[in-house]
Parts: sequence; C-alpha cells; structure tokens
Amino acid sequence: MKIIGIISSDNPQGNSATLTEEAVYGAQEAGADVELVYLAKQDIKFCTGCLKCMEKGYCILKDDFEDLRSKIREADGIVWGAPTFCASMNARMKNFFDRFGLFERMTSDAFGGKYNVGISTAASWGAAATTKSLVSFVSSSLFMRGYSSGTLGVHLNGKSIHELPEAAKKAKELGHKLVNDIKNQNKYPTQNWLSRKLNGLLMKPQFIKVIKLKKESDTKGVYQSLAQRSLI
Ligand SMILES: Cc1cc2nc3c(=O)[nH]c(=O)nc-3n(C[C@H](O)[C@H](O)[C@H](O)COP(=O)(O)O)c2cc1C
Repeated sequence: MKIIGIISSDNPQGNSATLTEEAVYGAQEAGADVELVYLAKQDIKFCTGCLKCMEKGYCILKDDFEDLRSKIREADGIVWGAPTFCASMNARMKNFFDRFGLFERMTSDAFGGKYNVGISTAASWGAAATTKSLVSFVSSSLFMRGYSSGTLGVHLNGKSIHELPEAAKKAKELGHKLVNDIKNQNKYPTQNWLSRKLNGLLMKPQFIKVIKLKKESDTKGVYQSLAQRSLI
C-alpha cells in the first residue's frame, strides 16, 4: 500500500508541514509505504486554462507536474497538507489542484477510487473549511468515486504546532485510519450521498454528451482515458 503526502507550505518545519508529516508517519507505522512531496521544492507552473489536457491527456506545460500526477495515480491514499491563507488553502495547493483541472473532473484519472485526508493549520479561524476543500476533489470524483478518511484543522491560538502534542496525536491517528480504510476498503455509503446522486443524475450525462461529441478532437484525451478503464 502506498500513501503520498502532499505539502504545500513554504515552511518545511512549519505548522502544517509538521502536522501533515505526523499523519504520513502514522500511515507508515500502520504498514504503508510512504512518500512526502513538498510542492515548494517542485517546479509547478500556473495553470493557463488552455484545456489542451482535454485533447492530449496530459498537460503541455513543461515542469514537474506530470511526474507528480503519476505518483498520485499510483498511490492508494493521499494526505493533503496546506496552511490556511485568507480562509482557504494556500495558493500553491490551489494551483496544484488547478493543474489536474477539468481533465481530472471529466476522467477521475488520478483521484478515482482513492482515499484521502486533509490537514490544515490556521492562526485562529478557517482551518476546518480548508480541510473540507482539500478532500473535496477526491471525494467528489465523478466517474469513479473517492473517499475521505477524515480531516484535521487546527487553530493555533498563539501557539506553534510543536506546543500542541494532542494535535500531533490526532494527525497520527488519522494516518492509521487512512491505512485501515484502504485495507478494509471501507466504502462510506452515506459520504457525499446527495451531491454524488445529483452529479450522477445531472452532471455526468451532460459530461458524457460533450465528451462523445468531440472525442476525435477537443476531448480526445478525456475519451481515451475513460475508454481505457471502460468508464464510457
Ligand atoms: C497570507 C496569509 C494568510 C493567512 N490567513 C489566515 C486566515 O485566514 N486565518 C487564520 O486563522 N490564519 C491565517 N494565517 C495564519 C496561518 O494560517 C498560520 O500561521 C499557519 O499555521 C501557517 O502555516 P505554516 O506554518 O505551515 O506556514 C495566514 C497567514 C498568511 C501568511
């Protein structure tokens, strides 16, 4: 079993990196092979919105993104760790999700079937909302659903994460739970139930129509990705 931790803080010894590492070490303790990726050390350009990914099945920008996409595709579980900036995930993480883009939304190529966990720290407010956004991309994967094993948002209230051993303990437990969920393939039938149903009834048929219409041109990459996995 492989778990990948994606950390978007620029501070490798900072609050969110430290807490995310705890969760990943928890997963390792529970028997998973783990890898930590610090986005600040990677070359990840901004998404330009060209939508070439839809046609080609990969992003045309030349940087480290496609390697990371492959790593995530191969992982069984993901731990996302981002600081809360302006009541949301920081821009580095948001851009990382942007890079998966509409292609991911229309294919569930890297996120489909995955289990994930979201972790954030904030000075005083907004961490819970950040963690919910972090897990929402995998959990709302349209063509092949993903699962949330839980979230942990910590408000520091003037302290550093190193002064909050309870938070570190919770992060570690979340790592254990992630591994346990994957081992047992826990399906969480009620998770996102309403939005999954609505997406399945309304959005998916629309997407399929659009994808098929231009399957030899604009949505060729999307069509091929889905067809390879018999999802269309
Ligand atoms: C640009 C910026 C925006 C921030 N916005 C918020 C916020 O909306 N709510 C909050 O409670 N803390 C906010 N903070 C504080 C950080 O969330 C907090 O210090 C966090 O632990 C930093 O994580 P790091 O140590 O991993 O860098 C902000 C900090 C910065 C630099």
